[in-house]
Amino acid sequence: MAKSLSVIIDTDPGIDDAIALLLAWASPELNVLGITTVAGNVELEQSYLNAHRLRWLAGRRTPIYAGCPEPILKPLKVTHTIHGRDGLGISWPEMEAPESSTHSVDFIIEQALNHKNSPVTLCMLGPLTNLAMALILCPEIKEGIKQVVLMGGALDNKGNTSPVAEFNFFTDPHAAARVFDSGLPIVMSPLDVTRQTEVAETWLNAVQSLDTPVCKAVYEMLSVYRSGTGGGLHDPCIVAWLISPELFTAKRCDVKVKVCGDREGQSVPEWKDDGQVLSLINVNADGFLTLLKNRIQAL
Ligand code: RIB
Ligand code: CA
Repeated sequence: MAKSLSVIIDTDPGIDDAIALLLAWASPELNVLGITTVAGNVELEQSYLNAHRLRWLAGRRTPIYAGCPEPILKPLKVTHTIHGRDGLGISWPEMEAPESSTHSVDFIIEQALNHKNSPVTLCMLGPLTNLAMALILCPEIKEGIKQVVLMGGALDNKGNTSPVAEFNFFTDPHAAARVFDSGLPIVMSPLDVTRQTEVAETWLNAVQSLDTPVCKAVYEMLSVYRSGTGGGLHDPCIVAWLISPELFTAKRCDVKVKVCGDREGQSVPEWKDDGQVLSLINVNADGFLTLLKNRIQAL
């Protein structure tokens, strides 16, 4: 098998983040160096605890860090309606998350500076606050970043948080703009493609029938998630792209993120063959769901 890809996953778990993390941990193609948490779906403390809960469920020991508790400028607005009050929608055994040994931003900086000869992939599943702050504090980290792959944006302007903006970009539009203006190579998985992955009851029942602790938790979390949103598996798509890019079609573009007025958080594409951004456009949804089921079954 080809050498595994070194990845840092930045996340605001969140039920779809949870599925994305489990998929990453179940995939030998990825070497998860660390999990950096951020406020988004839930407050930072909950996001950090949820990452520990999911690491326990997956039986992994990946280091986890606490990051920015607020967007760069806007006040934080969480989404308890979609992911439940604690962000994972179901009950968990009592557990305490230890004090974070370092800040998510410092971990991203440290890893990027230490990987100038073997640059790392940053997989961003929430608001882009941590990465934007790392770029502001230490611009030379770009030499140690191979690519930024992220879930975010809505290129057809059908937002899920405002009429034109997707949640991650709407929550911290200034961070999103900073990342897209950084010149870093970006692979973007917008709502245009993630909405194609709504899970059917039949698929969920098939996952439940696998009867492992992970599959039972996935079934319960997605049953809650689906009742609230219809269940587009937004975050797992970009992890699946890292594992099986052939499941997706993509086009190059440049993207500008609006930061003020009633269009804040809107991602405006300019389609061009030499664009800095590779945007996913379509997914083989059946192939994606089969990959996901097969991988989590093996966890
Ligand atoms: O718009 C979907 C994105 O916002 C996903 O990352 C979801 O977890 C929420 O953070
Ligand atoms: Ca997320």
